[in-house]
Amino acid sequence: MSKILDRSRLDHLLRDEELKFHTDHPKSYELFKRASQSMQGGVPMLWMIRWAGTFPIFVKEAKGAHFIDMDGHSYIDFCLGDSGAMTGHSPDATLAAIIEQAAKGITLMLPTEDAVWVAVELQHRFGLKYWQFTLTATDANRFAIRMARHITVRSKILVFNYCYHGSVDETFITLDEEGTPGPRHGNLGPPVDPVETTKVIEFNDIAALETALSARDVAVVLAEPVMTNIGIIHPHPGYHEALREITRSTGTLLIIDETHTLCTSPGGYTGKYGLKPDFLTCGKPLASGIPAGVYGFTQEVADAFWARLELDQSDVGGIGGTLAGNALSIAAMRATLEKVLVPAMYERCEKLADRYETGVLGVIKEFDLPWIVNRLGFRVEYWFRQTAPRNGGEANAAVDSKLDRFMHLWSLNRGILMTPFHNMALIAADTTEADVDYHSKVFRQAVQALIE
Ligand SMILES: Cc1ncc(COP(=O)(O)O)c(C=O)c1O
Repeated sequence: MSKILDRSRLDHLLRDEELKFHTDHPKSYELFKRASQSMQGGVPMLWMIRWAGTFPIFVKEAKGAHFIDMDGHSYIDFCLGDSGAMTGHSPDATLAAIIEQAAKGITLMLPTEDAVWVAVELQHRFGLKYWQFTLTATDANRFAIRMARHITVRSKILVFNYCYHGSVDETFITLDEEGTPGPRHGNLGPPVDPVETTKVIEFNDIAALETALSARDVAVVLAEPVMTNIGIIHPHPGYHEALREITRSTGTLLIIDETHTLCTSPGGYTGKYGLKPDFLTCGKPLASGIPAGVYGFTQEVADAFWARLELDQSDVGGIGGTLAGNALSIAAMRATLEKVLVPAMYERCEKLADRYETGVLGVIKEFDLPWIVNRLGFRVEYWFRQTAPRNGGEANAAVDSKLDRFMHLWSLNRGILMTPFHNMALIAADTTEADVDYHSKVFRQAVQALIE
């Protein structure tokens, strides 16, 4: 194992993989050069410069769990648009609904009947009474936070160290090694120092939660039920009960963000484990990748909000979006919920995730690596540490960016796309056993190359 940490070997291997990547993707490189003339960094959105290659792969087409790039290479997609295509790319049922609706009108600023079907379905899945639609999970979080502040007349929110809930200004705050809060490293042009808007504590720390909420100045806690964005961090037994009890006893509202944890069950973690949040937010795969987000809330929240709402000013209150709730997104969401994100899909994906986990664990055992595999539903990831992290600070300390980059690029060069920023694989209904076994083989080769 000590040889794995031979950084010069890692540097050398990484350089080889970068060269291979460059040689194998002439058309993507050509497009990237062209793109650099009209898009900053040569990419349509800033974070796309963070892929493991020296430039992004340009995609020709995708279907199910696979895609083909402009150079003609095929890939098994374990990234699946970082959950946006958790349904598999362009599932037939959603595609048919999109085509049908697009011919009948795309956006109207008026509701369609599908919206009623979707809202009722969301009630059944998550147990919250009222639903509103957005185009992104970020907006769902932003609007739930606004509602919570408006109702409680409190200014602050509370988040967990190294959380991610989209580009919500208030959430870009972390604790340093001494436990002092400050802007997250890389926070671009914050409107104010997030310390003014936000309290941040470690996940799974009940005492810190009690202390932070005791001042009764926090409107709402925004939490993933299981942290996923600095790697998977499970709640300790009893943590969710404590979170609910302490938020209630201090008059603090609770938003559960299910955007990534929807891989737990058709009702997410909330549906499976019976959580009782005041708000629930979700986005990404809900409409198979067509922009769509939702936020739901309880009768009590609805009553309190309605009582403080000036209806004739509701379009300028900071909760909105001209295209939100558009007919196309809602039709795609209906088809996705009715025909794609259904129990049979979850069963199939879980079985494949078992196989993926077994494959990776087999290699870890064979080479006696001090690594582990962490799992939530059909989201599986490996970690370069021996124990599961208890919170974001511990998880962040275990990040080895160079090793991550190598594992990603090794995989990419052999036809496997992993989720960027961590070593996570998401399984789609169309992923096959052969895809999973191929990943185990490529993972083994990478490890072997590192320790040879
Ligand atoms: C838990 C969680 N919430 C919200 C979001 C924001 O999603 P979007 O960027 O689609 O708005 C993300 C994005 O990764 C997320 O992981």
